[in-house]
Amino acid sequence: MTDDVLVVHGGTPLEGRIRVRGAKNLVSKAMVAALLGDSPSRLFDVPKIRDVEVVRGLLGLHGVKVTDGDEDGELVFDPANVEGASTDQINVHAGSSRIPILFCGPLLHRLGHAFIPDLGGCHIGPRPIDFHLQALREFGATVDKRPEGLHLSAPNGLHGTKFALPYPSVGATEQVLLTAVMAEGVTELRNAAVEPEIIDLICILQKMGAIIKVHTDRVIEVQGVPKLHGYTHRPIPDRIEAASWAAAALATRGHVEVLGAQQADMMTFLNIFRSVGGEYEVTDARAPKLGDPGQEGGIRFWHPGGELKSVALETDVHPGFMTDWQQPLVVALTQARGLSIVHETVYEQRLGYTEALNSMGANIQVYRDCLGGTPCRFGRRNFKHSAVIAGPSKLHAADLVIPDLRAGFSHLIAALAAEGTSRVYGVDLINRGYEDFEAKLADLGAHAERP
Ligand code: EPU
Repeated sequence: MTDDVLVVHGGTPLEGRIRVRGAKNLVSKAMVAALLGDSPSRLFDVPKIRDVEVVRGLLGLHGVKVTDGDEDGELVFDPANVEGASTDQINVHAGSSRIPILFCGPLLHRLGHAFIPDLGGCHIGPRPIDFHLQALREFGATVDKRPEGLHLSAPNGLHGTKFALPYPSVGATEQVLLTAVMAEGVTELRNAAVEPEIIDLICILQKMGAIIKVHTDRVIEVQGVPKLHGYTHRPIPDRIEAASWAAAALATRGHVEVLGAQQADMMTFLNIFRSVGGEYEVTDARAPKLGDPGQEGGIRFWHPGGELKSVALETDVHPGFMTDWQQPLVVALTQARGLSIVHETVYEQRLGYTEALNSMGANIQVYRDCLGGTPCRFGRRNFKHSAVIAGPSKLHAADLVIPDLRAGFSHLIAALAAEGTSRVYGVDLINRGYEDFEAKLADLGAHAERP
């Protein structure tokens, strides 16, 4: 634990330019999709983060040859020799990521059986997989839960089905897509998640030969095909990372240009950012031509000076305000005048990190009530899932222990915004989702070092 600490000297505005690459929450799924092809796939802009390492390891265990391509961040997947792996080998990856659950459909199609280790990921609530398992059973899979993990088989193959999700879960929608594309017949999924990362996964599957229709009102229809081939794809940029740096710029009264950030996928965030008093400018990409070196697109975010304004926001599924944008932005909200309100409707326990902010001088109260009008599954179940942030508060340095990925980044922002020297323990967790974050901090002029 002592090595895994960052010493942060706060109080300096972040200033400069960084670049985000392919979205963590798409890239890992795109890697799983490569298992379905009968020829190699090529994925660009893959960030060097832990989730990618885990999926790479699991693909390797199942016979997919993964190599680095010519371009920095390019991975090539060759699924010519897909094979089973032993439970012991697979269990090496137990508890390291939630992505392994998405191997079910592709492995059932390729091998007729699958073993899925115990899942990991962030500790932000119980994070059940009941929707996934229910959907897989609807397709005809047999699921055997054992202490070491899940054993699945499909003795009679997988068949298209009509299925409605109880909640538009991102992972369960991906599970259905990755299974339905090669299941026999038609699948109709209702109440599907339609996040940009899901639409990008659909684009990949379509490139591979799948037939997928996205109807209005969260209905997705998939016509199963017997065979898919490899894809070549440049993923959408990471809109969670982009928003995290934007929030860091605002909280430290700085100015950060995020190359790669895309306006269309961040509209809801941009509206809130502007309501709080932050400013931004979208710079569109321009191709190079004679006498013009061209320009990489992105978004510049900055604090215009003066005071920030309080806001009320509710997290929600797309096109709502992402739950993963919430924690970084709340740090900036501690600097806004008045009472800001956050109603977290996606995860029941995603406000625990506010205690650390309070230990630094913030004034945040959490409530069991739904402080907002969005229908929510948690109000009657006694979860502290709403927060009231009174500001502005002067943040001072503290020793912090990172509990999960996004909360971890919010701790980091708080340490950067606070006066004095903080020690942030458990920073390696941030590598799960933020590529090279220490180098990026240095590029932005932050004073942070490993002791
Ligand atoms: N849920 C169930 N049963 C299920 C599946 C989900 O009750 O079988 C519930 C969850 O407990 C949660 C809600 O449905 O309350 C939404 O969960 P969802 O399935 O949408 O989340 P996920 O697929 O596990 C992905 C991202 C998360 C992101 C959420 C919401 C990945 C690897 N993870 O998780 O990202 O917060 O969608 O957008 O794609 C992160 O990047 O830090 C992160 C946690």
